[in-house]
Amino acid sequence: MSSTDDSSLSLEEKQYEFCGHSLKIAMFRGTSLGVSAFVWGPGLVLCRYFEDEKFNFTGKKVLELGSGTGIVGILAVLLGGDVTMTDRAYVLKQIEHNVSANIPVTSRHRSKIRALAWGNDQNNFPTDFDIILGSDIVYNPSQFLRLVMTLLNIANEKTTIYLSSDVKYREGAANFHEEILPTRFNCELIHTSGSNCIYKVTKKVRRDED
Ligand SMILES: C[S@@+](CC[C@H](N)C(=O)[O-])C[C@H]1O[C@@H](n2cnc3c(N)ncnc32)[C@H](O)[C@@H]1O
Repeated sequence: MSSTDDSSLSLEEKQYEFCGHSLKIAMFRGTSLGVSAFVWGPGLVLCRYFEDEKFNFTGKKVLELGSGTGIVGILAVLLGGDVTMTDRAYVLKQIEHNVSANIPVTSRHRSKIRALAWGNDQNNFPTDFDIILGSDIVYNPSQFLRLVMTLLNIANEKTTIYLSSDVKYREGAANFHEEILPTRFNCELIHTSGSNCIYKVTKKVRRDED
């Protein structure tokens, strides 16, 4: 744990190794970031999946929802992606800190940080992302429809969405992935690690008469 000039703010830093990169991730404790000030299991499972599957994001336009500390989006930048990391506005300073600490200046032009509150801000974003990432963003049933609305607005039918969720310990997560999301998206379970599941999701093609 290290302190900063602001006595109300203490940073807890942890180090992670993925895909040959050493990531030093700060969590802004002592602020009101709540669940955003942690690196959650589904995020680590997604990072490990990128490593095991030798993901290369070069040339891909990527959006991350609910970035939190930014660990997943930062790794996607280091793996070549052009990545927009998003979260609620009050979380962005933590992401900015971690981007500065982990992404070399020469690659930083491929990282963007923007406020995106689901159900409110999705119309401010382009709809040509190749990939959308979301780790541990399925945990609060009151936000599920907002999340679906956001994915429907931003994804096009060629966008691949990877969602990593804890379906046992997160309220409603199994129902979201098995019942709610499949009404409008094709959902495939592609990896499990304990109760963490990674789903590959694409938007259903709608015929005119639907
Ligand atoms: C449990 S944290 C996961 C953080 C990170 N993705 C990880 O895996 O460590 C969930 C994140 O989703 C964000 N989130 C939750 N509801 C949201 C909403 N309605 N709009 C935008 N972000 C939201 C939170 O601010 C938080 O950063």
